[in-house]
Amino acid sequence: MPSSDTEIPASRPRVVLLLDGVAACADRADQAGWTDEERARFAGISDPERRAQYLVGHWRVRGLASLVFGGAPADWRWWRSPGEPARLLDTVRNLGCFASISHAADQVACAVSDDVVGVDVEMIRVERELAMLAKRCLAPDEATTVAELEGLPQAVAFYRGWAIREALGKASGTGLVPGTARRMRIVPASPADASLRLWQLPDRVLALAFSPGAKVEAHGAPAGSAEDFGWEFFS
Ligand SMILES: CC(C)(COP(=O)(O)OP(=O)(O)OC[C@H]1O[C@@H](n2cnc3c(N)ncnc32)[C@H](O)[C@@H]1OP(=O)(O)O)[C@@H](O)C(=O)NCCC(=O)NCCS
Repeated sequence: MPSSDTEIPASRPRVVLLLDGVAACADRADQAGWTDEERARFAGISDPERRAQYLVGHWRVRGLASLVFGGAPADWRWWRSPGEPARLLDTVRNLGCFASISHAADQVACAVSDDVVGVDVEMIRVERELAMLAKRCLAPDEATTVAELEGLPQAVAFYRGWAIREALGKASGTGLVPGTARRMRIVPASPADASLRLWQLPDRVLALAFSPGAKVEAHGAPAGSAEDFGWEFFS
């Protein structure tokens, strides 16, 4: 739990995203600065691919916080309480930032910000139950579109809506809550007003959720393919 005098900087929101390959980083990754909880979680993961994702994600996100907000990577402590956004706390300088991690296959995405942030990377998989999942977790008009499509176009439509809601769920700290996710309308926005950015690739989707008006810097994300959105609740 952050102490009451731990400060989240009040300057203009800045969001920095880093997309990297797990295998490309695994040899360099270390556990410097890990909390007992992180070590315990890591010890409980037996699948080698998931272990590498966890190791690289928790190492990379500290390196990113160090680059963006200063301090040594090992000074940043990972902190997340159920239902709250994840944070990194620099216990040496008494600073905090918001942080988010996502992995899919060999990809790891990390984001840090001085305001809430959530990131999600999803491989686009053609699966039978996407129309049913869309009905459960996407807005009705998106679910209708998914149901009308087949094959790859259906999977692309589904994972765009899904990744956006996963990113929003991480930014809020709740994860994806179906009843909430169904009531979110995703609308195009200018970069100045956006609170969502989506990168669409042939085999995967990357979504970033942040506070409206934040300045986004993306490293490792494909140049030129970003789309900006906002979101609103409807009843
Ligand atoms: C927990 C959840 C956010 C993980 O997302 P995912 O796409 O499966 O996996 P990702 O690799 O993208 O993200 C995992 C990372 O998210 C972070 N994370 C997990 N829960 C989080 C939460 N509530 N808030 C913020 N970040 C969270 C962790 O850092 C985790 O990585 P780590 O374990 O290596 O530290 C997602 O499964 C979820 O929203 N669950 C809610 C319940 C659910 O299943 N809803 C769907 C019903 S249709």
